[in-house]
Amino acid sequence: MGERAYNFNAGPAALPLEVLEKAQQEFVNYKQSGMSIMEVSHRSKEYDEVHEQAQSLLKELLNIPSNYKVLFLQGGASGQFAMLPMNLVKPKQTAAYVLTGSWAKKAYSEAKQVCNSSIIASGETCNWTGIPEFHAVDMPEDTAYIHITSNETIGGIQYKDFPESNGIPLVADMSSDILSRQLDVSKFGVIYAGAQKNLGPSGVTLVIIREDLIEDNEHLPTIYRYATHASSSSLYHTPPVYSIYMVKLVLEWIKEQGGVAAIEKKNKEKAQCLYDVIDHMKDMYHGVASPAYRSNMNVTFRLANEQLESEFIQQSAKQGFIGLKGHRSVGGLRASIYNAVPYENCVALSRFMKEFSR
Ligand SMILES: Cc1ncc(COP(=O)(O)O)c(C=O)c1O
Repeated sequence: MGERAYNFNAGPAALPLEVLEKAQQEFVNYKQSGMSIMEVSHRSKEYDEVHEQAQSLLKELLNIPSNYKVLFLQGGASGQFAMLPMNLVKPKQTAAYVLTGSWAKKAYSEAKQVCNSSIIASGETCNWTGIPEFHAVDMPEDTAYIHITSNETIGGIQYKDFPESNGIPLVADMSSDILSRQLDVSKFGVIYAGAQKNLGPSGVTLVIIREDLIEDNEHLPTIYRYATHASSSSLYHTPPVYSIYMVKLVLEWIKEQGGVAAIEKKNKEKAQCLYDVIDHMKDMYHGVASPAYRSNMNVTFRLANEQLESEFIQQSAKQGFIGLKGHRSVGGLRASIYNAVPYENCVALSRFMKEFSR
């Protein structure tokens, strides 16, 4: 193994080496201030610039229309599972959920705690290997939003096209594929994502919300209202300054790579390199997701039995491959190949997979 592992962790996950090095350079003495960015006030000139740049880079890279707010919150995507229905569902309305796997199920079960919620389609019918369809035209008028999970991190399935929502706000948990591909933000009412896969380290949660969905829900505690954070540019209270600083560096890195279009192209090549091995060695590897919905972020596969899988993990670890064990709830193997995972690491893994098979 070189100085850097072949890191296939699912999240927190690999960060670009250039970003880590830049953060290291600036760690103790940020821009000749004599202080770390962690040591300055969140209302200081130094931090204000970081905060503003992180927001404006996101708007630029994702081409976010001007009628959307970009919020930096805390509590992870799990916090959004609850905050979203608390803010968007009025009495007598229902929140509609598409179940595609573990994360969609969690989002739905949190919504059930705070409002009327329904399941409008479930991947159970295809054993969680694909994306179930629904028809928004048939949905009741009192539907507050339709919630989808753009990429199921555990199952390794991903929406390739987003569904039509017939004027009902479409909400997406994009925790594990935000900024991995180009996106038409205007199709969505709300997009949210924990940072710790494609955006930076854990600790900050991104929310992109259409302004007309932001209401000052006075019945909610102040901190749990989107309106609070939207009206104070996410500076109502102390934000996770270091995480946001790191997000800013990651966004600068994405821009240097050629933006989201270039990243998307690279991500497809990386995923293809691994799915090719799975497809060409069918007697050895078995892809979990059905091919039309295979994730370009989390490549999930199985071997003939658990003993072989554990052998695969042990042998790969000896060669410096980290994080290939599938999620504890489903087993099997999973290579998470977010934006920061270099193409060369996927080639190295594909080579190992062939060698292991031999
Ligand atoms: C798709 C998806 N949603 C939600 C979560 C939960 O995120 P957090 O740990 O930030 O609450 C994860 C975490 O891996 C995820 O992959």
